[in-house]
Amino acid sequence: MSSTGGPTPRLAIYPGSFDPVTNGHVDIIERGTRLFERVVVAVLVNESKAPLFSAGERVQMIREVFHGRAAIEVDTFDGLLVDYARAKGAHVIVKGLRAVSDFEYESHMALMNRRLRGDIDTMFMMPAEAYAYTSSRLIKEVFRLGGEVGGLVPPLVEERLRRKFALRRDPHSVPRNV
Ligand code: PNS
Repeated sequence: MSSTGGPTPRLAIYPGSFDPVTNGHVDIIERGTRLFERVVVAVLVNESKAPLFSAGERVQMIREVFHGRAAIEVDTFDGLLVDYARAKGAHVIVKGLRAVSDFEYESHMALMNRRLRGDIDTMFMMPAEAYAYTSSRLIKEVFRLGGEVGGLVPPLVEERLRRKFALRRDPHSVPRNV
């Protein structure tokens, strides 16, 4: 039992689009594993967001980054996050908070999720300062325009971005497991 009388939180859900996973996400997942026995990285399958990478590709990249780490599960979800958390038996949602600008949106989601299901809490964690400005959206934009993103995403993600954009520029090139 925790000091609040509830069950000790052993499992946390870390949800997101992860299109693609960045070193900021990796940092939060690592921090999560220091606080929880298991962290489920839950990749949103939402094709209406027109992601660059398919859900399968996003899952595969995260699994490769955390290969051999039993405490980290990578899964997909659709529909309400709280329904997914309920199905998993989780009471904690972990989110990263980079700057004050994240707070408004994140606090609205956390409170809505609490309204939907009062026994789930959202826990915010700050990534390392080096990733305070890193987002999947900016990574894709900088990469697309020929800028350097080394050190902000895992090397294998940089490689997948390279292949993905090469394929987009030349749709007739043969994809190598893109
Ligand atoms: O990485 P993102 O795109 O900021 O992640 C947003 C995510 C996936 C956490 C959020 O869109 C979400 O929880 N979607 C599931 C649908 C849902 O539960 N919506 C109500 C949230 S209050």
